[in-house]
Amino acid sequence: MIQVFTVLGARPQFIKSWALSRALTSCGIQEFVAHTGQHYDDDMSEVFFRELGLRPPDVHLNVRSASHAQMTARMLEGLEPAMRDRKPRAVIVYGDTNSTLAGALAAAKLGIPVVHVEAGLRSFNRSMPEEVNRVVTDHVSDLLCCPTAAAVANLAREGFDHDVTSTSEPDVRQLPSPWIANVGDVMLDVLRHFREVAASRSTMLDRLALSPRQYVVATLHRAENTADAEQLASLLEEIAALARSIRVVFPMHPRTRAVLDGADAYERFASQPGVTAIEPVSYLDLLHLNANARGIVTDSGGLQKEALFLGVPCLTVRDETEWAETVEAGGNRLVGRRPSNLAGALEHMTTGSSAFVDKFGAGDAAGRIAGLIRALVRA
Ligand code: UD1
Repeated sequence: MIQVFTVLGARPQFIKSWALSRALTSCGIQEFVAHTGQHYDDDMSEVFFRELGLRPPDVHLNVRSASHAQMTARMLEGLEPAMRDRKPRAVIVYGDTNSTLAGALAAAKLGIPVVHVEAGLRSFNRSMPEEVNRVVTDHVSDLLCCPTAAAVANLAREGFDHDVTSTSEPDVRQLPSPWIANVGDVMLDVLRHFREVAASRSTMLDRLALSPRQYVVATLHRAENTADAEQLASLLEEIAALARSIRVVFPMHPRTRAVLDGADAYERFASQPGVTAIEPVSYLDLLHLNANARGIVTDSGGLQKEALFLGVPCLTVRDETEWAETVEAGGNRLVGRRPSNLAGALEHMTTGSSAFVDKFGAGDAAGRIAGLIRALVRA
C-alpha cells in the first residue's frame, strides 16, 4: 500500500486536509499525519478535528509559539526522524506557513518527493513570512498543485515547465518531476461540501442575535498588521468607526488578542458601540457567519476566496493579494493597511462575478491531487 506523510500545523491546513484525506482514502493511499503544534489552542486546532471528523494526528510535535527560526528548527528536528522511520513515498504540505516550510525542507533533505498543495501563489512581497515560505517550498517540491491558472503562470515564470494539468496519467519516467498542475482549490471542495451543513448546524446567528446582511465579519492576523501595536490600533479604530454604521463581528486570532492584551486595548476595542469581539470560531460557524454577512473585512487569504465563493463583498486591508482573481471578479477591494471610511467603501461594493469562481476549479481539486500523487509515486 502506498503511504504518504502529511504535515499539518495551522488552522487553515486542518480544514484543507479534510478534502484531500478523504480523496487519498478513496484512492487506497494510506496517510500518516504529523501535527507540528504551530496552532495549539483548542479553538485554533482541536475544534477542527472534532467538527470535521478528522482522524487524530499520528504524531504531535507540540512546537508552539517561538521565533520563526526556532519554530522552524524545532519542527525540522521533530519531522526528520518521523519521516525517516515511516519511509513515506511522498510528503504533503499545504499553503504557506512555517509548518509548510519545515515539512517541505525535512522531506527534500531526505530525498522524499514533496507535494505542495496551494502552490504557485505569490504576493511579490518578500517581507511577508508567508511569501518566503511559499517560494522556498515551491522550489523543493516535486508536485506543485496550483489552485488557479495564475498560480501555474507564476511558476512557469520561475522556470517550472512540466505542466501535467491536462495529462490524466502522467508518467514520471517520461516527464520527470517537478510537475505543475492546475487542479483547482481544495478550499472550494470543502466549502461546497459543508455550506449546507453549516446552515443547518450553526447556531451562531441566534447566539449573537444577528440578522442576515445586517453585520460585517472582520478578521486580522497577518504579521504586517499585528506585529506593530500602532498599526493594529489604527486598523481597529477604522473597524470601530465602521461598527457605528453596521454591526461588526470580530472573531479574534490569538496573535491579535495578545498584542491588544499587552497594551490593555482589548476591552477598549470590544466595548465600542457595534463591535462584537469573540473568540476564534469553528469552520462551520465561520462559514455560516460569512455566508450571511453584508461584507467581510480581512487580511486573511482564505476569507478573500470564501467571500467570492459565497457572493459576499470583501475589503482586504493589505496592499497586495496573492488572490488577484477575487479583485478582478469585482468582489474584493484592496483598501491598504491604512484605510479610511470602510463604511463608504463597503457601500460601493457589489458581490464578485460568480463566473470567476470557476477560476478556482470545479470543487474536485482533492480527487485530482490524489490521482497525481499516485502517478508520481507509481514508478
Ligand atoms: C499562521 C501562518 C499564516 C496563516 C495563519 C492561519 C506563518 C508564518 N503564518 O499565522 O500563513 O494564514 O497561521 O491562522 O506560519 N497563538 C496562540 N494560540 C494558537 C496559535 C497561535 O496563542 O493556537 C499565538 C501565539 O502567540 C503565536 C501567534 O499567535 O505567537 C502567532 O501564531 P503563528 O503561528 O506564528 O502565526 P499566525 O499569525 O497564526
